[in-house]
Amino acid sequence: MLAGERGRATQKAMQILVALGKIYDAERLVRVSSVQVSGVSYKNLGDAGLEFLSELAKDGKARVKTTLNPAGMSLTDWRSQGIDSGFAEKQLQVIDAYGRLGVEITCTCTPYLAGNEPSFGQHIAWGESSAVAYANSVIGARTNREGGPSALAASLTGRTPLYGLHIRENRVPTIAVDVEAKLRVPEEFSAMGYFVGRAAKDGVPYFRGVQHASLEDLKTLSAALASSGGVAMFHVEGLTPESGLGAKDLEALTFTRKDLTETDSLLNDEGAPDFVSVGCPHCSLTELATLARLLSGRQVRREFWVCCSREVKRQGDEAGYSRLIEESGAKFALDTCMVVAPIEELGYKVVATNSAKASHYLRNAGLKVRFMPLEGCVAEATRSG
Ligand code: F3S
Repeated sequence: MLAGERGRATQKAMQILVALGKIYDAERLVRVSSVQVSGVSYKNLGDAGLEFLSELAKDGKARVKTTLNPAGMSLTDWRSQGIDSGFAEKQLQVIDAYGRLGVEITCTCTPYLAGNEPSFGQHIAWGESSAVAYANSVIGARTNREGGPSALAASLTGRTPLYGLHIRENRVPTIAVDVEAKLRVPEEFSAMGYFVGRAAKDGVPYFRGVQHASLEDLKTLSAALASSGGVAMFHVEGLTPESGLGAKDLEALTFTRKDLTETDSLLNDEGAPDFVSVGCPHCSLTELATLARLLSGRQVRREFWVCCSREVKRQGDEAGYSRLIEESGAKFALDTCMVVAPIEELGYKVVATNSAKASHYLRNAGLKVRFMPLEGCVAEATRSG
């Protein structure tokens, strides 16, 4: 591949991986079973990114199952989202290039809910920090936090350098977290992730004292840990598959109800929301069920985006949840999300969301944010006046 015998794109991809391997002192390459490519929104890629992809697409092809992160807009309903046609044209060119590369146009940050579910111990190369933390911690697959180019390079070659979280010794906990607060809803896991991520930086937290955690709790915890810090893996004692790696003699911090309240206020600005969005990371079927129950018979009075994958939406259609959600006036935001879509350019000022990760990035984009549970988001969306 490096000699160019498999084409120019594969050669370029291998050059990227070899350079990375040298930087991180990798002993060799390892085969990967799947790839999740991030760097899809034209908002982040720009023309340079589009050019890079178009060049690779001339003769490059994915060698392993490869799925795609959310784009900057719905690929079919971008007009009703208020997206500018110049942006849409560029975004569709990006998607077209990925399609020619053999990448599945899934456009979701929860590939593990949409047909790309690795097994325990498998080596994978995923971008999208929330999915990386989930795959390592909850599934027990092995991936570093890939950037767009390195994930794509892994896809075109089927390989990644063997370093970091691909190696067992690097998966052991580095900091213990004694969870004293009783966590009841996913948003509280999200706030805890935000709090712990800042202290853990790029370490491996080991949570003690959590009795139960749902898929939704772990999904939002993964996202928050990876947004305030660089966490790519964590353990929950007795719950996640590699928590047996142990947590002896570790520096420990506690997470109390007071920390929860303080993190909550840290994530909240003043102001009445004019835009409400849930599904960061993209909603699960259980979340669609909850939304359907909360929205049934009610009318939404401000823009309300429910972000999820096309696959989960399809399951929601079958279960009858999607109809109840749409009848309320809420909109499914498929292929995209409130962070990667250019919503700051659509004139919205204050966003209500149930995700600490979304709060973090929306604020960085200059918006005001209200962080609240899913029920609160529905109450805001349906509030009159
Ligand atoms: Fe997914 Fe967008 Fe959040 S990509 S994790 S919904 S910021």
